Amino acid sequence: MITVEKPELYQDLARQLAALIEGEADFIANLANTAALIYHELPDLNWAGFYLRNGAELVLGPFQGKPACVRIPIGKGVCGTCAERGAAVLVPDVHDFPGHIACDPESRSELVVPLIENGSVVGVLDLDSPLLARFDEIDCGGCEQLISALLVHHGKYPRGESPRNLGEVTSDRR
Ligand code: SME
Repeated sequence: MITVEKPELYQDLARQLAALIEGEADFIANLANTAALIYHELPDLNWAGFYLRNGAELVLGPFQGKPACVRIPIGKGVCGTCAERGAAVLVPDVHDFPGHIACDPESRSELVVPLIENGSVVGVLDLDSPLLARFDEIDCGGCEQLISALLVHHGKYPRGESPRNLGEVTSDRR
């Protein structure tokens, strides 16, 4: 990928994501479409998806790619390290990352971005590539912005309730 095109690519992704989640309050559904959007629009990925925090571990959430390990303790692997730090982790060569968890041996580089709500890590977005050093700071910033938009969207609506379509419940707000 040509680096100068990346900012535009992420701007386009942000527009597409906004359109996909508009009017939809279900968190899992929106994570699923976010994973699909990223997986199909960003080149050279072999896995894109979410792990969601459940106590002291991350549990596999919506994703695209081959089946993956289901539970990752906080602090373990690239995902658990990201969750522990509450900051993105960029790994140019997974073989150089001690404790990397190899779900797919084809993965060579990885980017993990945290989902932070009210100061707490509630999950991570994990991107894998079969190419060495596939991800850079532009990818990192672009993904952080996508996640931020997703969480701002969900911050407006109560969680833990039955899935519902916002079109049915927002008439009194509009
Ligand atoms: N490589 C990750 C595990 C998740 S899979 O890549 C989908 C890690 O080290 O945490």
